[in-house]
Amino acid sequence: MNVLIIGSGAREHALCWAAERSERVTVVFVAPGNGGTALMGGKVRNLPLKATALEDLLQFARENAVELTIVGSEQPLELGIVDLFRSAGHTIVGPTQAAARLESSKLFSKDFMERHRIPTAAYHVFRDATTARRYIGQPQNVYPQVIKASGLCAGKGVFIAINKEEALRAVKDIFDDRIFGDAGDEVVIEEFLQGQEASVFVLTDGIKYRLFLPAQDHKRIGDGDTGKNTGGMGAYAPAPVVTSEVMRRVEDRIIRPTLKGMADEGYPYTGFLYVGLMIDNGEPSVVEYNARLGDPETQVVLPLIKSDFIAALQASVDGTLDEVPFEMHEKSAATVVIASAGYPDHYEIDKPITISPDVAAMENCYMFHAGTAIREGQPVTAGGRVFSVTALGDTLRESIERAYRVVEKISFEGAYYRTDIGAKGL
Ligand code: AMP
Ligand code: GLY
Repeated sequence: MNVLIIGSGAREHALCWAAERSERVTVVFVAPGNGGTALMGGKVRNLPLKATALEDLLQFARENAVELTIVGSEQPLELGIVDLFRSAGHTIVGPTQAAARLESSKLFSKDFMERHRIPTAAYHVFRDATTARRYIGQPQNVYPQVIKASGLCAGKGVFIAINKEEALRAVKDIFDDRIFGDAGDEVVIEEFLQGQEASVFVLTDGIKYRLFLPAQDHKRIGDGDTGKNTGGMGAYAPAPVVTSEVMRRVEDRIIRPTLKGMADEGYPYTGFLYVGLMIDNGEPSVVEYNARLGDPETQVVLPLIKSDFIAALQASVDGTLDEVPFEMHEKSAATVVIASAGYPDHYEIDKPITISPDVAAMENCYMFHAGTAIREGQPVTAGGRVFSVTALGDTLRESIERAYRVVEKISFEGAYYRTDIGAKGL
């Protein structure tokens, strides 16, 4: 079959890689893809279509016998791509617009968790600056407080305020200066959760679900979790903080109630569900839901799947998820993100990239491109996060060491990466 993958990051490069390996797949189209997917050749073809050009994507799928579409990024989900494709009779993996509110509206997701008694941080909702300021002014508030714009903000909509002044500044940024536009029309202020973060992904048909291996992201720019939040600087899986006992609690208290609650309320959740967790003394609570796979976590969880990933996706749309294998390698994986100097703030692009030729011969190592483009046949930088370099190993330590060995073979002016990816897991 022909498949269509929507998005342009390292996550979508990894999805292309997984799709290409499936014996069922003839052609993998990726819209718009990146420099890495352009270099793949074989079954993979980049399309000059934006991830948000829904009508153009549907027309392409119609005219090119696309049998399965996989949505990587959140914007097309919020715009209703799943509803559009389904109404035209096309098979697509993802949640409807109503179900994607678990990510696109923090207000919806917090109220949903409250309705279904799913553990999460205590919260208040605000629709104007005056009421938010009055709340922040209360002497009994304990800091840090977490202040979140409700809508989609590309991972930038969360402020961890360590005192009242920072909380007031966040309220000014969101309500007065409208730095997130309409996405900041509603604000959630919530309790700061202690513990270790982890990401658990499920693939679901609305009732049945299959679990990926639990992963841990590294959101801060600097070693030792210091500095600004980023889209994610590296990840590893499986994350030992999610023991089998913790995973059982996550399934009982979070995953099953979430799927049942969404179905009961009339918008069954289909596709990938990302459950962002805080785990404190073995007790999980939800930090956030996302309506898609994580980036960079995808770059470690997909290479650890042993069975045919596309067969599982097809089963999820056929309602036969319990009939297909969803087996994992008994290995660990680590991915290290290489970014442009200055990221997550201002950075330069168009830096020529040199990759040592011996990388190609390294087994179980994968270079997933994020912000790259091809200029006159040569890769150049084209974004903040440039590569996500994954390696598998028999142990977490081995996978980390192997990933860093590959990282050293990639160079461009200003290349930056964290040197402690996975250290928490050791
Ligand atoms: P979100 O976009 O909701 O995932 O938030 C981004 C990051 O902010 C999370 O990955 C956490 O590191 C942090 N964060 C968000 N909410 C909380 C919370 N209630 N307590 C502690 N940290 C949080
Ligand atoms: N890795 C965080 C995210 O994908 O939202």
